[in-house]
Amino acid sequence: MSFPHVRLRRMRRDGFSRRLMREHVLTTDDLIYPVFVHEEKGRAPVPSMPGVERLSIDELLRVAEQALELGVPVLDLFGVPDPAAKTADGRIAWDPDGIIPRAIRALKSRFPELGVMSDQALDPYTTHGQDGLVDEDGYILNDETIEALVKQSLVHAEAGVDILSPSDMMDGRIGAIREALENAGFRNTRIMAYSAKYASAFYGPFRSAVGSAANLGKGNKYTYQMDPANSDEALREVELDIAEGADMVMVKPGLPYLDVIRRVKDAFGVPTFAYQVSGEYAMLKAAAANGWLDEKACAMEAMLAFKRAGADGVLTYYALDVARWLREG
Ligand code: PBG
Repeated sequence: MSFPHVRLRRMRRDGFSRRLMREHVLTTDDLIYPVFVHEEKGRAPVPSMPGVERLSIDELLRVAEQALELGVPVLDLFGVPDPAAKTADGRIAWDPDGIIPRAIRALKSRFPELGVMSDQALDPYTTHGQDGLVDEDGYILNDETIEALVKQSLVHAEAGVDILSPSDMMDGRIGAIREALENAGFRNTRIMAYSAKYASAFYGPFRSAVGSAANLGKGNKYTYQMDPANSDEALREVELDIAEGADMVMVKPGLPYLDVIRRVKDAFGVPTFAYQVSGEYAMLKAAAANGWLDEKACAMEAMLAFKRAGADGVLTYYALDVARWLREG
């Protein structure tokens, strides 16, 4: 009988021994801050994401300065175009003077040391709110969409982006983008692939933030994003993206998919990221606003859970708060 010789509570008794045996730590180096950039002046709140605002490029520069000061390594840019400029083919997505290329240039010229990442998908720019081009039956065309994503990627690379992150889930897009980058001389542009991106209901507040919710209407993304029932399939997606030239892979959403992060990390050992999505953020905010949860404690616990599951970093709307909380200790 090992009891009472073995008592796991001994090590938990004091702060010093809890610290000694702590397996995982969170630092500001683990954070990527997603931001929404709009064509309007100033800032506009996103009602379903308290604390998140759409930013003009001037305001984006202010936020970037804060992020740098707090030690957050990377900002991830999402475009909110003028609704009147949307088309069925989403062609403003590859306009060199579009909102995102302008934002990239502004950030890289003002803060060259800040990592800048951008999203590749057509949904903010299309009249139907889908991530790709659509045929007469409403089916998302794979190869035609890839051509559009390659154009969007090259425009972002040309503007100086450090990390591309295709979030569309077309088959073969990582290979096509990587080849186009190589051919155009962008050898060091990194790619973080949204590899295991699920058709999740937790993206609702994001779709309101980029203004695609009304366009998408009752539409869904089941024919390209993954079924939440699957995880073997996630490993196949990750394997392909690595083979096609991704530098980093991502699992999305975050907390409900920690098992997938763990499987990916164990199987491939590549830089693996979790996206704590808009709905996860909204849930915490709503509960905190009602006084039902301690926001800081819950958000920090979620961050640590991502690390424990095997994530090297987290995309989170809490990034600046987390950096401040880490500083407070
Ligand atoms: C669009 C995209 C989405 C998110 C990131 N890129 C939404 C979607 O696929 O419908 C979701 C992010 C979030 O919910 O925070 N390609």
